[in-house]
Amino acid sequence: MANDLNIPSASRRTFLSLSAAASAGLAFGIVTEPMLANARVHNLPKDAMSNGAIRIDANENPLGPGASAREAAAAMVSQGGRYSDWLTDDLVKTLAEMEGLKLEQVRVYPGSSEPLHHAVTTFASGQRSYVTADPGYEAGMFAANAVGAKVVKVPLTKSYAHDVKAMLAAGPDAGVFYICTPNNPTGTLTSHSDIEYLVENKPKGSVVLVDEAYIHFSDAISVMDLVKAGKDVILLRTFSKIYGMAGLRCGAVYARPDLLEKIENYGGWNAMPITALAAASASLKDAQLLPERKRINANIRGQVFAWLDRNGYAYVPSESNCFMLDAKRPAKAAIDAMAKQNIFVGRIWPAWPTYTRITVGTAPEMEQFQVAWQKVMSGAVVASAGAIPSRKRNLDGIVIRA
Ligand SMILES: Cc1ncc(COP(=O)(O)O)c(C=O)c1O
Repeated sequence: MANDLNIPSASRRTFLSLSAAASAGLAFGIVTEPMLANARVHNLPKDAMSNGAIRIDANENPLGPGASAREAAAAMVSQGGRYSDWLTDDLVKTLAEMEGLKLEQVRVYPGSSEPLHHAVTTFASGQRSYVTADPGYEAGMFAANAVGAKVVKVPLTKSYAHDVKAMLAAGPDAGVFYICTPNNPTGTLTSHSDIEYLVENKPKGSVVLVDEAYIHFSDAISVMDLVKAGKDVILLRTFSKIYGMAGLRCGAVYARPDLLEKIENYGGWNAMPITALAAASASLKDAQLLPERKRINANIRGQVFAWLDRNGYAYVPSESNCFMLDAKRPAKAAIDAMAKQNIFVGRIWPAWPTYTRITVGTAPEMEQFQVAWQKVMSGAVVASAGAIPSRKRNLDGIVIRA
């Protein structure tokens, strides 16, 4: 579309999409990982930031932003009275150059939750189902529910990959196939060739939404090449995980320009926090950050797995910053008994009721986790009735039509 008013690109996109969002008349909440973490099992106490609580329940990065990102964000605070469009365009340019994409194939958002929800509401509907893995990251199911789309949950394979053939068979009417690799909550991978098979064999008019929120912790091969090739693929990335910026809010979505424009119609493209933009750009310039954090996470994860093996506890081997641990009993009581020791672990997926998800924290945190888990498994610490505060947000009220 002609840019008659000479509006810079970031503002122009927001401006154009406002009217479309308003006329769609759609209102729904964005569901995020901490909301899910809190709703299903416990509310994190308000003083958890300061009372030494160990928070390994929401797949956050305990290291926080890298040193250069912290400096860049702090230096940006004094500019906080200004809007940020040129900084947004700078980050888009950097990301596009890094991936060999055109500017029109990249958007940045305050986190990847927004484009995740908007992609689902754009391509799923009352007539077109949302097909996802089980257990899988739940946020998209809530977005599908908001537009009346049927949610189809397909069990992972024996090797904990997405079962793309079963997903295709289950979704002849699909609008969206959601693939999260490494998967949240299992930290297991789905191969590039399987995703390619899904893309080549999916029903006409559907999209494959690939969530690579955790990819930098693993050796998985990205599907960025499928975006580059102009396939019906929407790829999500976030600075919340390996970059440790969950609270600063920055994410990106990569896809064909026509797909990105459709997604924008469901909520516009909001101004970005300038501290997040500064921190993201600085992180990308730090060549050591990713390999160092990947190594730290893998080392700690490996130590925890070795400990679990030595002690005979069952878990699903993961390539990410989280893994599923089998309590060999309904996991809620184990989660509550951990909380009693001020250690907050993740939620339960109904398909695997004896498992709880553990986020890989720092080495000292994981040592405390081990001591506490041992106590829970031996029965030395048990959950006491009423000790855990009740749910603040009841997400269970949302109906998932399977
Ligand atoms: C699989 C997955 N996708 C997307 C997100 C969204 O993260 P954010 O909105 O912080 O970028 C999360 C958060 O935990 C996640 O686990």
